[in-house]
Amino acid sequence: MSDPTNPHIKERTTPQWGLYQRENFWRQNEGTTPLFNTGKYYASSNAGMSNTHLANRQAFYRHRLIPNQLIDTNNRSTRTKIFDHSVSAPIGFAPVGINKIYHSAGEAAVSKVASELNLPYCLSTAGSTSIEKVASANGPKGTRFFQLYMPHDDELTVSLLTRAWENGFDALILTTDTWQLGWRHDDVALSNYAFYRGFGADMGLSDPVFLSRCGADGIDPDVDVVAASTKWIDSIWHGRAWSWEKIPWLMETWRGISGGRPFVIKGIQSVGDARRCVELGVEGIVVSNHAGRQVDGAVASLDALERIAEAVGERIYVMFDSGVRGASDVVKALALGARFVFIGRLWIWGLSIQGEDGVRHVMKSLLADMDILMGVAGFNGVEDFNRDILGRSCFCCDVRMAADFEMQSRIRRITRSYHRRICEWKTLRDGCCF
Ligand SMILES: Cc1cc2nc3c(=O)[nH]c(=O)nc-3n(C[C@H](O)[C@H](O)[C@H](O)COP(=O)(O)O)c2cc1C
Repeated sequence: MSDPTNPHIKERTTPQWGLYQRENFWRQNEGTTPLFNTGKYYASSNAGMSNTHLANRQAFYRHRLIPNQLIDTNNRSTRTKIFDHSVSAPIGFAPVGINKIYHSAGEAAVSKVASELNLPYCLSTAGSTSIEKVASANGPKGTRFFQLYMPHDDELTVSLLTRAWENGFDALILTTDTWQLGWRHDDVALSNYAFYRGFGADMGLSDPVFLSRCGADGIDPDVDVVAASTKWIDSIWHGRAWSWEKIPWLMETWRGISGGRPFVIKGIQSVGDARRCVELGVEGIVVSNHAGRQVDGAVASLDALERIAEAVGERIYVMFDSGVRGASDVVKALALGARFVFIGRLWIWGLSIQGEDGVRHVMKSLLADMDILMGVAGFNGVEDFNRDILGRSCFCCDVRMAADFEMQSRIRRITRSYHRRICEWKTLRDGCCF
């Protein structure tokens, strides 16, 4: 298909650029992958057949905004408060791990943009930049929160929380839906896990307790970075579930370290769990299904929000994420009872495409979208977003959207089966089996 001995190559006045395709197809034989492969696939992967991801988008599609006319929106404001921080808009940067697989600028660039726009930034425990460097890039004016994947090593947890607090991370967000990554076909098929390649463990490798754990196991990160980063990620995505009994300890520990700053649980999808958070005295919840990356076939996060906000919205600060792709989605979530919305994939895509500038462009575009939407739909501030501004679409819209999605997933399936075939050939050639 692209024969490098093709005699015409020598006759051409320009190189046979097309051979670059062959080079990339060939890479797997050499144990490498094409550039950008890791980040692109990792960000796009969903759990299972992507049904939860589809449900997230369908739920937004079902709700429709009802614009109002001849309202004086000339002095409208997107401003709101999250805990006691006054921020530009009810929009924040969701915690997203290992940003350096999208762009070498990583978390530092993202947190810098967040601060410039006066939007809260959440740093993930799986981040590929140290807590200290992110704090410095986010600067003295930045509003920043720390998202915890809780290790089964209390001393390590305390060390991370202490570093976070000493570096100005003002709220703790415990993520409870990811003791381990969900089953994501594409990542498994491509062996796509940067940490096992010795990449992205900066958070652990800058932690004194984690370094002492490496020492105890005879791992020198300067000599064997793969062993060190594997140990790090296995410490935080350990696959061992925590249960409600541990929450008081974590709340007390964080409050002791931070002098009582807010504690939040992220990943709540059921009314029962939301009520339990209220009973325990948790300050906030993020209604989230991790962008559909953990449980396939789960309820849409927006549908969960509707029920949760109704049940506990008056008693706890309810935040939302999963599937937001534009300002109208933000408004719909707020209308259904969220007080604040986090964004993940939108800024990841910006980061992948153009680093810091890409993140800035995407998030400024979202703010512009929000400002314009409020101007033309008759909304003056976040207090105007309530159920009265919502209508619903009809059932056949859902069916059509499902059909579009089915077409996309058929294409994905074909791609996957193609990849499987390559693996099978390789297996035949090597004469071994899985
Ligand atoms: C590539 C990727 C990495 C993520 N990493 C984390 C993480 O490290 N910690 C976490 O709590 N959530 C993580 N999430 C979930 C996000 O915080 C957020 O819940 C989700 O992305 C919101 O949905 P959206 O991407 O549709 O906006 C990740 C999501 C994606 C897409």
